[in-house]
Amino acid sequence: MAKQLEGPILPFLRLDAAAAVPKFRQVQDQLRQAILKGHLRPGTRLPASRILCEEVGLSRQTLVRVLENLKAEGYLEARQGAGTFVSAALPRPAAIPRWQKSLANVPDMPPPRLSRIGDLSRQMSADIGQFEPMPFLPNRPAIDRFPFALWRKCWNSVTRGGKVAALGYGDLGGELILRQRIAEYLAVHRHDPCDPEQIVITPGGHAAFTLAVLALADPGDGIWFEDPGPVTTYNLFHTLGFRLCLTDVDGDGMDVAGAAARYPGARLAFVMPSRHHPLGVTLSLPRRLALLEWARANDAWILEDDYDSEFRYDGAPLPSIRSIDSHDRVIYAGSFSKALYPGVRVGYLVLPPQLVGTFRNLSGLINRSVPVETQLVLAEFIGGGHFASHLRRMRGLYAERREAFIDAGKVALAGLANIDCSESGLNALAWLTDGRDDRAVRQDVLEAGLQCYPLSDYTVATPRPSALILGYAGVPTERMRPYLARFAEALSRS
Ligand SMILES: Cc1ncc(COP(=O)(O)O)c(C=O)c1O
Repeated sequence: MAKQLEGPILPFLRLDAAAAVPKFRQVQDQLRQAILKGHLRPGTRLPASRILCEEVGLSRQTLVRVLENLKAEGYLEARQGAGTFVSAALPRPAAIPRWQKSLANVPDMPPPRLSRIGDLSRQMSADIGQFEPMPFLPNRPAIDRFPFALWRKCWNSVTRGGKVAALGYGDLGGELILRQRIAEYLAVHRHDPCDPEQIVITPGGHAAFTLAVLALADPGDGIWFEDPGPVTTYNLFHTLGFRLCLTDVDGDGMDVAGAAARYPGARLAFVMPSRHHPLGVTLSLPRRLALLEWARANDAWILEDDYDSEFRYDGAPLPSIRSIDSHDRVIYAGSFSKALYPGVRVGYLVLPPQLVGTFRNLSGLINRSVPVETQLVLAEFIGGGHFASHLRRMRGLYAERREAFIDAGKVALAGLANIDCSESGLNALAWLTDGRDDRAVRQDVLEAGLQCYPLSDYTVATPRPSALILGYAGVPTERMRPYLARFAEALSRS
């Protein structure tokens, strides 16, 4: 026997005439919620549509549409000659579907049972900054200067006629044509030739690091890591269960001798020889050679992060460690995040020949593949000479912006901070002269509508003087002076 609604008809309906959501949708959503929450139980008969119309203030035609929609979704059912009922087939109370759960509900739920990696990920912020145009956001290329018309042309040429090659999973190591183009680029611009077969394409630099550490080290194994160093990469290695062996960094880059003495048995050294992030120093040649010797003697590996070496303003990019490695110990990681734009999500590894098969298979297991269309478009973009021209233009633009930043910064920040702008990359450091807490100062900078990162966030064990990291490459030259004046104001307020 069907239950009848008792008391006020549909007491849970709370219709708001002033809301932007139309009334019929409010009725539909609230009826659905009432069923999901068990206020309207399976088998319950709804009031006659004439009564419902009066109660909710909808025309009969609109109400019928609401009921038909809920029938189509499975919440209601019509019984011949008897009326409309809450579906008898629903469990009691109906399970809340996934799309109803918002993150706002999470704190009220019992902690989920997670793996160690899951638990660390839950606690870790992987937020790497949004791309809203907040001046001085570190590591931000001038995306507004990206030649999208040319990119679109390459895209059209790749997808015209639905080329079969673009529609499948693609090659495990990435599309051969892209690997060939990258190999040509490395030979010409980095003076570091390799066989395209040594390249594995990845969805960005961090995916490349993930493959490398998973293939070459086991959880608990040591990885040399510069302190300070890139926080996202630190978090990645830590979350995956590796032991971070913190090494000092000075004006010559990573303290290789110190690391070799303290952590001789580490499996891998993660290093940014062309430009350390965030300090901006380069690894000296004697240290590069010492690093190669340590890896050779200890059967260890060097993971060379070369993500922004294209942007050097006082000469050609520095040669990579890979280019002087005669014992096949270096895994070279490149990324298009800065040279093009971060959302393109393409990176790559250049591997010693003995690792190629392993990395291709592991990449197939973890990444499956990188969007094939994007790879083909990028190959076309590089092959058409657009990549080289874009880099040339951006190098000029960033050099100009860097000069403007230094000139305006010297004046605006006098007495507040010392600017330290290496000859490469997209960022500068502002060392705070009175040693105030850089995290606190950053809050004032954010409130002034500007971005920067505190150096403390990059430091694990070795405290450094207070400094803020600012990205100048994304700031138009003519805006440098007013933004730096605003930045100075925020510093003086702290
Ligand atoms: C130190 C460092 N290496 C590499 C990358 C490139 O990473 P991805 O290609 O995943 O954006 C970044 C990006 O900001 C970085 O900061």
